[in-house]
Amino acid sequence: SWTPDTFVDTTVADLKKKVGTDKVILGLSGGVDSSVAAMLLHKAIGKNLHCIFVNNGLLRKNEFHDVLKQYKGMGLNVKGVDASARFLDALAGKSDPEEKRKTIGRVFIEVFDDEAHLVEDAKWLAQGTIYPDVIESVSATGGPSATIKSHHNVGGLPDFMKLKVVEPLRMLFKDEVRRVGASMDMSPALLGRHPFPGPGLAIRILGDITPEKVRILQEVDAIFINGLREWGLYDQVWQAGAMLLPVDSVGVMGDERTYEKCVALRAVESTDGMTADWVNLPYNFLQKTSNDIINKVKGVNRVVYDISSKPPATIEWE
Ligand code: XMP
Repeated sequence: SWTPDTFVDTTVADLKKKVGTDKVILGLSGGVDSSVAAMLLHKAIGKNLHCIFVNNGLLRKNEFHDVLKQYKGMGLNVKGVDASARFLDALAGKSDPEEKRKTIGRVFIEVFDDEAHLVEDAKWLAQGTIYPDVIESVSATGGPSATIKSHHNVGGLPDFMKLKVVEPLRMLFKDEVRRVGASMDMSPALLGRHPFPGPGLAIRILGDITPEKVRILQEVDAIFINGLREWGLYDQVWQAGAMLLPVDSVGVMGDERTYEKCVALRAVESTDGMTADWVNLPYNFLQKTSNDIINKVKGVNRVVYDISSKPPATIEWE
């Protein structure tokens, strides 16, 4: 019968045989799948695995720094590429959700291709594709790989997409990926991370994106997510995050009326993201979180909690 330990043993042996002494490139996202795929390849081929972790400027607060450090601690041969300015410049003035997604997908391909060229003589592209990705590879929202697929036909394939593909998790479901990671002693915090969309905070800032809006949302999101952890609620939630709404909400400060940002908090229970229920978070937690956000994040004067289920409301707001 299937066990994570035997999966690791046979997969590592297979990868050694398949890849030999070739160099392999892998894009790390900070998520569970790419991290576990990287760990398997690291066990098989060590330094010949060249991981690339791109900061698109739309990650959670401190995420680029913290996750990069964690990857290095795991012994991975990883390069962090801070392309924030390139992404934010390309996004300036764009407010249509699909245009934002396409822009991020395009810039990601450009940045990744530049980096891949720096790894001389690479033969393989490794991906953290899991079984549900294989069967839903044409889904409308898709993940980062779907984004890539929908753009590669413009102006020909980027060079890294001409590499041979290796996908060690292709036959696994998410829970199996987590068990495989645990059997390689990967940290429970990394393996238990909530899913996070490839376009990141860009699709949680409704309308156009500015560095200031990213900063505000990063602060709000950090208070919410750290609060979930502190209150022991993080693992009861499938995914959580904050949305920065394109409305200025009226507030009062002394005798003055002020107009500042409104944020919506969202936390859902789900098994696969296809359907989702909003989580009945404790009122005391919501009260504390709302006060912390309004008191600590300059520019926000109102917090609401999203109590809509999917369907019909999607998890993200755009
Ligand atoms: P929705 O909003 O469609 O989200 O209910 C379902 C799941 O997909 C994630 N999501 C995305 N992931 N690129 C991604 O990689 C995207 O463009 C994208 N849009 C939504 C969302 O976070 C949730 O987990």
